[in-house]
Amino acid sequence: MLEVRNLSLAVRIDGRQVEAVSDLSLRLEPGRVLGLVGESGCGKSLTAQAMLRLGEHQGVEKTAGDILLDGESLFALDEPALRRVRGKRIAMVFQEPMTALNPVFSIGSQMMDVIRMHLDLDKTARRARAVQLLQDVGLEDAEGLLKQYPDALSGGMRQRVLIAIAMAADPDYIIADEPTTALDVSVQKRIIALLLNLQRQRGLGLLLVTHDFGLVAEMCDDVAVMYAGQIVERGTVAEIFDHPAHPYTRALMACRPEVSAPGAALPVIPGQVPPPGSWPAGCHFADRCELATDDCRRAAVAEDAWMDDAHRARCLRVLQC
Ligand SMILES: Nc1ncnc2c1ncn2[C@@H]1O[C@H](COP(=O)(O)OP(=O)(O)O)[C@@H](O)[C@H]1O
Ligand SMILES: [Mg+2]
Repeated sequence: MLEVRNLSLAVRIDGRQVEAVSDLSLRLEPGRVLGLVGESGCGKSLTAQAMLRLGEHQGVEKTAGDILLDGESLFALDEPALRRVRGKRIAMVFQEPMTALNPVFSIGSQMMDVIRMHLDLDKTARRARAVQLLQDVGLEDAEGLLKQYPDALSGGMRQRVLIAIAMAADPDYIIADEPTTALDVSVQKRIIALLLNLQRQRGLGLLLVTHDFGLVAEMCDDVAVMYAGQIVERGTVAEIFDHPAHPYTRALMACRPEVSAPGAALPVIPGQVPPPGSWPAGCHFADRCELATDDCRRAAVAEDAWMDDAHRARCLRVLQC
């Protein structure tokens, strides 16, 4: 199991250290898909990157909590041990397939590098593995593709290559940070289908980071809704779709393209996510919440069980109703 336990992360803004992720807990299990959903700027990527201990060289610092892989802290690992975990146990698929691939190396050389790092195979076997991986992600003419450079590929093909690279060492967990956001809608659907297929076939634990609640409905078993550095609601997708508790969850669900009238403008939640350093004292969502009262603004709101212990929400109003 990959477990984030009461994690707090700080970033540096104007030379000041400010909290950007606050007391966050998540649990990723083999064979399950967990959606981490929230608007842009909520801290989803910071959280996802921390799960591979990335981002630390960009001034991101863990100030509390832990991340445990099968009970062992990632923060207890030295750099070589960490490199073995990255890719071999936990792999990452990023949002921008162009920036995640290196434009000056061929697809084959980038794939073979990753395979060499993690698997003890000779050159012929490495090449065969690369070809197999490209076929597994639905790319034709895998042999020819090995010689191509990222520039020659479409966005969808590049994302397939990145997924192939993520699968190279047969990881147990995949963290996919907005893996389809940069792609056309039709390509998005095919990439999502591919990810889900691989996840099911191999029993992977998948963390899907997204701002799209519709995607969560389609793909995930469990969901954690994130707002301004905190998880505000969590539970199974089925449960949260039937009984969303938090006003923020309800607002996100109402913004799905699927639920609005065809041709109508997409609803948006008025206002903006407060950035780190500007979080309100009480409920982080209070300023944008129609139900908020003075109580909501006074003091931090704890996460509480709502429908049952597995479905939890961080909201005074709903829990009092
Ligand atoms: N390295 C960093 N230094 C300073 N601020 C950062 C850094 N990374 C992210 N942030 C800020 O933290 C907040 C959360 O960022 P991020 O995790 O990227 O959000 P999301 O992925 O949910 O859109 C944003 O306000 C962002 O500007
Ligand atoms: Mg992000």
